[in-house]
Amino acid sequence: MGCFWFFVLCFLRLCGANVTELVGMFGKFQSPNYPEGYPSDTDITWNITVPLGFHIKLYFMHFDLEPSYLCEYDYVKITSGDMLETFCGRESTDTEKIPGQDSVFSFDNSMTVLFKTDFSNEERFTGFEAHYAAIDVDECKEKLDESSACDHFCHNYIGGFYCSCRFSYILHSDNRTCKVECSDNVFTERSGIVSSPDYPNPYPKSSDCLYRIELEDGFVITLDFTGIFDLEDHPDVLCPYDYLKIKAGMKEFGPFCGDKSPGKIATNSSRVQVLFHTDDSGDNRGWKFAYTSVGNPCPVIQPPLNGKVEPVLEIYSFKDQVQIRCNVGFKFVKGGDEVEAYQIECLKSGTWSSGIPTCKVIDCGTPLPLEDGFITFRSKDNLTLFGSRINYSCNALFYRMDPDLNTTYTCMENNFWVNDELGTDLPTCHPVCGEPRIQRPSIQPKIAQGRVVSRGSSPWIAMLSKNGIPFCGGSLIGKEWVVTAAHCLHLPSDPDNPEQIDSVLINITSFKVILGRQKTLRKEETEQEYHAKNIITHPRYNGSTFEYDIALLELPSKVKMMDYIMPICLPESSTSTLHTGDMVIVSGWGKQFLHSIPETLMEIEIPVVDHNQCKEVYSQLGRQVTDDMICAGLKEGGSDACQGDSGGPMVAVDEETNRWFLGGTVSWGDGCGEDNRYGVYSDVSKSLKWIQNITKIKNI
Ligand code: ARG
Repeated sequence: MGCFWFFVLCFLRLCGANVTELVGMFGKFQSPNYPEGYPSDTDITWNITVPLGFHIKLYFMHFDLEPSYLCEYDYVKITSGDMLETFCGRESTDTEKIPGQDSVFSFDNSMTVLFKTDFSNEERFTGFEAHYAAIDVDECKEKLDESSACDHFCHNYIGGFYCSCRFSYILHSDNRTCKVECSDNVFTERSGIVSSPDYPNPYPKSSDCLYRIELEDGFVITLDFTGIFDLEDHPDVLCPYDYLKIKAGMKEFGPFCGDKSPGKIATNSSRVQVLFHTDDSGDNRGWKFAYTSVGNPCPVIQPPLNGKVEPVLEIYSFKDQVQIRCNVGFKFVKGGDEVEAYQIECLKSGTWSSGIPTCKVIDCGTPLPLEDGFITFRSKDNLTLFGSRINYSCNALFYRMDPDLNTTYTCMENNFWVNDELGTDLPTCHPVCGEPRIQRPSIQPKIAQGRVVSRGSSPWIAMLSKNGIPFCGGSLIGKEWVVTAAHCLHLPSDPDNPEQIDSVLINITSFKVILGRQKTLRKEETEQEYHAKNIITHPRYNGSTFEYDIALLELPSKVKMMDYIMPICLPESSTSTLHTGDMVIVSGWGKQFLHSIPETLMEIEIPVVDHNQCKEVYSQLGRQVTDDMICAGLKEGGSDACQGDSGGPMVAVDEETNRWFLGGTVSWGDGCGEDNRYGVYSDVSKSLKWIQNITKIKNI
C-alpha cells in the first residue's frame, strides 16, 4: 500500500503539478527528495479530502526544516476551515513551532497542507514525512450550531449521526426537528380550553396545527387568551417564524406572535379555526385560551294564566329549554288530550319552538250515577270542575248507605271524583231490611188458626207459583235473592206423598217467584214477578232427613223496592238468636188444616219450642230433629204451618235493632196443627255463613 501511495505522489510530481489530491481514508506524503535534503523554491500543496462525517488526523514521523523567525524561509502550513497552523525548524522556539508528537486535526472533512521553501537549502535539511487518517466525529457530543443539531435525541455512528424524537413527536423531513401531528383537533363542546402542544413547555418545531371549534349554528364563540403567551417573533417583520391565525367565518384575526397576548376575541361565529405555525427553531412557550359560547337569545316568557314557567332565567338563549306547567287543577289541552307539562326550546333563530298554551281547569265531568241513589252538588251551578264536591246519597225510604261512610267525593287533578276511603269506587245503596213501611194493626184478633196478613206488613214474602197456584213460600233478602226451602225445588218421587223428595231439581222455568202479592190466586198491581236465574241448594241438604232444608234463588235482576216489596234482614250472629218461648211470626199461602188454600196470605204467631222437647216428640215417630232445625208451635196445637207454606219466612224482631229478621224457613211437620206436634223449621242462623258467602248481603 505504502508503495502505491508513493507511486501516486511521484507520479503527480513528475507531471509537474504542484497540487496533489489525496482522497483515501489514510495515507502518507513526504517532502521532495525525502530523506535527502529538499530542493529550494518548492511550492507543493496536498489537498486531503475524506468522506463527509469524518475528520482528518495528521501527524509527522519526521520533521526537519530550516528554522527562521516566524517561519519566513521554509515552512509547512496546514489549513482546514478557520484553522491555521504553521510549522518550521527542528525544535520549537518562541517564534516557531514544530509538530513533534502532536497531531493536527481538521475542522471538517478536508485539510490543505502547503510546503514552501525559499531559494536555498545550504544545510541540507531533510524535510518531513507526514501521515494522515480519516477519524470519526461524534456529532452528538460536538457542539453543532442550532441549524444542524438534533431537536430531541442524537445518535452517532461512524461517519455520521441521525436524530429521533420524544414520544408522540415525529421527525420532520429535515431529519432534525421534531414536529407534532396536530391538524385534526375538533372541539364540539360548548366551552373548553385549547393550548399549544406541551404548553407551557416549549411548543414543537416545524409544525402546522389546526384547531377547529365547531358548534351548532346559533352559538357565538368568544376566545379568551390567558396565561403565558410566547411565540417567536421578529423586531421588524410581522411574525415571520411562528404565528397564530384565527379564522371565524369571513373574519380573520392575527397573525399573532411575540409576548403580547391577544386577550379576548369575540368571533361572532359558531365555527372557529385556529392555525398555529412553527418553524424549525426557537424555544418559546406557546399559548392557551379558554373558549365560551352563548346562543342567540329568545324573548322572556310570560307564564300562562294559572300556570308557571321553569326555570325562571333572566335571559334565555339558544338550546335553553323551559317547562311550562299548569297549576294544580289545571291542564293543557293539546289535540284533544290533556297534558301535564309542556316543554319548549329556544331555537337558533332566537324564537321559541312553540307558543305558550293555555291552562284549562280540570273538569271531572258528570259523576257516575249511583244505583238506587242520587248525587247532590255541593257547589252552585252544579260545577264539576277541579275542587268541586258532590255527595252521593241513597234513595230515602228503601235504601241506605253504610252509616260510617263519608260520601263526599271531590274532583281531583287526575280528573276523577275521589272519596277519602273508597277512592273512585262508588258507595253501595243497600236496601232497607226488616222495617216494613206498613205496620200490622196494633190491635189484632188473636186467631188460633191464624189471621189474614194486612197488606204490606210482611213485604219480604215471596210466592213460588206454578201454573198460577202457589206451592211454596220464600223470603226476599237483599236486592236479588230469595231464601226458600231446598225441598221446594226438588221433584216429589211419589206424587201421593209429597214429603218424599227426590234428588232431581225442578225445572227452573217451571215456576215463578212473585213479590208484592197478597191474594193467593189473584194477580195484584203491586206485584213483581220473576223467573229465577239460578238455584243454589245448601250443600248439606238431605232429602230424606230434611237436614239443611234451605236454598237460594237468584233473581235475574234487581228488585225495585216499594212499600209492598222490601227485604227481611238476615240474623245478626250476635243479637238475633231465638230462644225457647220467643214469639215468631210464620206466614204463607199454605193449606189450612190440610184442607183448602186460603184466599189471602195468612200468618200465625207462635213461640219457639225447646229443642229437646221437639226432638223427643218426633223421635217417638221415628223422625230426627237435628241441630240445623228449630221448632215452633203450641203444645195444644192449632197454629201451625202446613202444606204450601214450606220455604216461607219465620221472622222475629231483633231486640237491639228493632228490625225483623229471618229466623227460619218452613220445612216440615207431622200433619198440621195437631196437638203434641210442632212445626219444624230450618234454622237460618246455622246457614248464615253459607248465605252471606253466596249473596254478599250485609245488613245495614
Ligand atoms: N213440607 C210442607 C210444605 O211443603 C210444610 C210442612 C209444614 N208442616 C207443619 N206441620 N208445620 O209446604
